Amino acid sequence: MEKTLLTVIEGKKAEKIPVWLMRQAGRYLPSYRKFREKYDFLSLCLTPELAAEVTLQPVDILNVDASIIFSDILIPAFSLGLEFDFYEGKGPIFKKPVSSFEDIENLRSGDLTDELFMTGEAIKIVQQKLSPDKAVIGFCASPFTLACYLIEGKGSKVFAKTKSFIHENPSQFEKLMEKNTSVLTNFLKIQAEAGADILQIFDTWGGILSPADFRKFALPWLEKLISGFRETFSQPLIYFIRSSGELLPLCKNLPVEVMSVDWSVSLLKASSLLGNRYVLQGNLDPSVLLQSKEVIKKETCRIVEEGRELKGHIFNLGHGILSQTPVENARFLIELVHNF
Ligand code: CP3
Repeated sequence: MEKTLLTVIEGKKAEKIPVWLMRQAGRYLPSYRKFREKYDFLSLCLTPELAAEVTLQPVDILNVDASIIFSDILIPAFSLGLEFDFYEGKGPIFKKPVSSFEDIENLRSGDLTDELFMTGEAIKIVQQKLSPDKAVIGFCASPFTLACYLIEGKGSKVFAKTKSFIHENPSQFEKLMEKNTSVLTNFLKIQAEAGADILQIFDTWGGILSPADFRKFALPWLEKLISGFRETFSQPLIYFIRSSGELLPLCKNLPVEVMSVDWSVSLLKASSLLGNRYVLQGNLDPSVLLQSKEVIKKETCRIVEEGRELKGHIFNLGHGILSQTPVENARFLIELVHNF
């Protein structure tokens, strides 16, 4: 049986349009909320049997064509020697964010700590249990998006502290990015070694940078992450960038197979900005899933039609599914895409 995502990535016609949803395992699912009553979020991420079970929930409930391994982009921070936790309503908070030269000097680098391997172990379990036509997706953050959290110490809309740090301490920032890139390369390699079919790089915050800063402070490290991974592995890579419009032309030589874009740019425009070279993933606005079935259908049709003009199309949301999404609407969407 073919894995439809891989078929499309290879540039071939699949029997149906492959679809999965970013953040498809999570709080909008009653079965996930039940798990969370018993276990805290990090325990779920760091216990392979539990992570595997949560990973498979949306595959069973929604019939998506891929599972994305249950983990978090911040897990590699443990390997740098930084502690953090997730707090209800606040998101991640670091005990001691990175703010000085000493902080960066003291970060561990290149350590293959247990936390990284737990995600690999979860991938092995999911591969055994998943139907062979579905792909297992591993993931990591881009070096810049990880740096945002390490410097800011928490989530933010603007990451002002991070932006000041970059400009005030460019050489320290470079040192931090070197260490980030090294741990993220290890994280990707561990997941590939464990059997992930595809790896996605989440650059959730790349889009907060001006094109000039993106080119100077983010892109070179992204390229280094990809080339480091490619030294030993050949699995396809997906690069997701949010608020990407102006930055897409800068990404048109990234050696990845798939570009995942948000809803601020149409698939056709995105493809043209990228030189029509990539399979695209996306890009339904997640808030559409809170609306009526008519709206969901209209928006989905529009995106599917655009997708037909591309080199290849993996249907997805433009960003993570919202926690207030009715499960029924998510299921409706997947069926709709499959029936085209
Ligand atoms: O289903 C999946 O997509 C797999 C698992 C996954 C999670 N996080 C689980 C999670 C993935 C791929 C991520 C990536 C991630 N994590 C990103 C990039 C993608 C994106 O959505 O932009 C980012 C920025 C993070 C960091 C993060 N994790 C934040 C800021 C938060 C708190 C805000 C929130 O959404 O709750 C998390 C927590 C988190 N990661 C949850 C889940 C299921 C919610 C935890 C809970 O309360 O149960």
